[in-house]
Amino acid sequence: MKKYDIRKICCIGAGYVGGPTMAVFANYCPNIIINVVDINKKRIDDWNSINPLKLPIFEPGLDKLILRCRDKNLFFTTDLEKSISEADMIFISVNTPTKTKGIGAGKASDLKWVEASARQIAEFSKSHTIVVEKSTLPVKTAETIKNILSSSQDVNSKDKKTFSVLSNPEFLSEGNAINDLQNPDRVLIGGEDENSINALSNIYLNWVSEKKILKTNIWSSELSKLTANAFLAQRISSINSISALCEVTGADIKQVSKAIGMDTRIGQKFLTSGPGFGGSCFQKDILNLIYLCNYYKLDEVANYWKGVIEINNWQKERISRIIVSYLFGNVSNKRIAILGFAFKGNTNDTRQSPSISICKDLIEEGAHLAIYDPKVEHSRINEDLKEIQNPNFDYQNIGNWEICSSIKEAAFESDAIVVLTEWDEFLHINWQTLIKSMRKPSWVFDTRSCINHDMAKNVGFNVWEIGNSSSINKY
Ligand code: NAD
Ligand code: UGA
Repeated sequence: MKKYDIRKICCIGAGYVGGPTMAVFANYCPNIIINVVDINKKRIDDWNSINPLKLPIFEPGLDKLILRCRDKNLFFTTDLEKSISEADMIFISVNTPTKTKGIGAGKASDLKWVEASARQIAEFSKSHTIVVEKSTLPVKTAETIKNILSSSQDVNSKDKKTFSVLSNPEFLSEGNAINDLQNPDRVLIGGEDENSINALSNIYLNWVSEKKILKTNIWSSELSKLTANAFLAQRISSINSISALCEVTGADIKQVSKAIGMDTRIGQKFLTSGPGFGGSCFQKDILNLIYLCNYYKLDEVANYWKGVIEINNWQKERISRIIVSYLFGNVSNKRIAILGFAFKGNTNDTRQSPSISICKDLIEEGAHLAIYDPKVEHSRINEDLKEIQNPNFDYQNIGNWEICSSIKEAAFESDAIVVLTEWDEFLHINWQTLIKSMRKPSWVFDTRSCINHDMAKNVGFNVWEIGNSSSINKY
């Protein structure tokens, strides 16, 4: 049986997946040279930054790994041709966002970056290359990649370019990426060519136990990734739907979550109610699943998953309505402090963050927002809020926003504080100091159930907490 000796790896895409994943690979495989390539030069420059080290993404533990491996066996470069031509194994780790126009717009994944990567591999690779799908892809994408690659195989040529394609989806979650990569629940490898599967599996065996490495056919692997994200998102929509019921019935969502989660068949994880799921993947991957179901004429299945997204959108809108309602039905010209803009704690990523739509709703209602997030770049927040896409907007009478550098600055002379991301810093707020600089009555809306409510109430705040009936609720 032919064994592939992997000495050089190329990873196309130096983003939230490519960067951390390859840093962990490099750390555990000192004998493999890893080149991470990207077309975005600024990103690559940031990965290579030295004094100060200013990585393009914030991820706990990542800086240590980068400092340990960078320029030893881990390199960040824009030289695609060289990196591809030297590689024995290439990971495609590029973005696959939802299409915004054309066939399947709003549902199907835009595969233009995947296709471009496949074409670049076809052009520049020299000998046998194992191509690994790391990006999350619709079922059957491997077929497209294989077609593009095989079209470059010239039977008359001396150099024997051959390829095998594997699916190896990534299950890391942002903010916990390094731990997820170092201690994965499972590693999934889908493919047909046993030698290639073993070559990839051998890399993981440097730090993952064999029983956690699952080998499947390629279509199961692609579909398992979409399904895992759909199931996780479904749990959040389920608990969020119940949070609304808690608010009107006298139940408390934290108690309900705990009670149901103690049933080992349900389990305790992913039952925290919040302002709706964000992140670049849950919505995109469910939309993709819906598109696939519709394509295969499974409309009932498509509609079932559609409900998960509908509840998520409803939860975000519901929170905006609650804030306006408690502030006497009017937020025009009121200053509202927004604490947290990232889609979850411990990341600087804002893609699909519930903060974006809730902030836009409040701005549309005329509020002046004072936004603070400990890790998100100010320019990112401005970019996200700039595109207010509602065609019904009355641009003369909308509110505005400013970006603040501390909780104190955001809260100054505000009517209300809205907690939208569960940053550790927010758990330890000194509410007594804060209320002194605020307008009265002062409100806190805790959409993450993460602050010290007793302390806030004791110093005079009106507190609204998600899924907690002790706040009077009209919805
Ligand atoms: P990202 O946008 O952060 O990074 C993708 C990078 O690919 C970008 O820097 C882009 O410039 C680069 N790129 C695009 N086309 C290229 C090309 N032809 N050549 C070189 N570089 C190119 O995206 P991400 O969050 O890292 O996600 C990547 C994939 O992984 C997606 O399919 C996503 O669904 C999946 N995924 C993401 C996560 C996550 O937590 N973000 C987790 C699991 C899976
Ligand atoms: C998610 C999955 O957890 C990863 O396994 C997957 O690899 C990744 O998507 C992907 O494919 O991109 P991520 O989006 O980084 O990871 O973060 P999650 O921890 O899943 O959180 C997603 C959203 O759900 C966040 O907005 C978070 O605040 C929210 N959430 C999560 C809740 O509201 N309640 C919970 O109990 C858990």
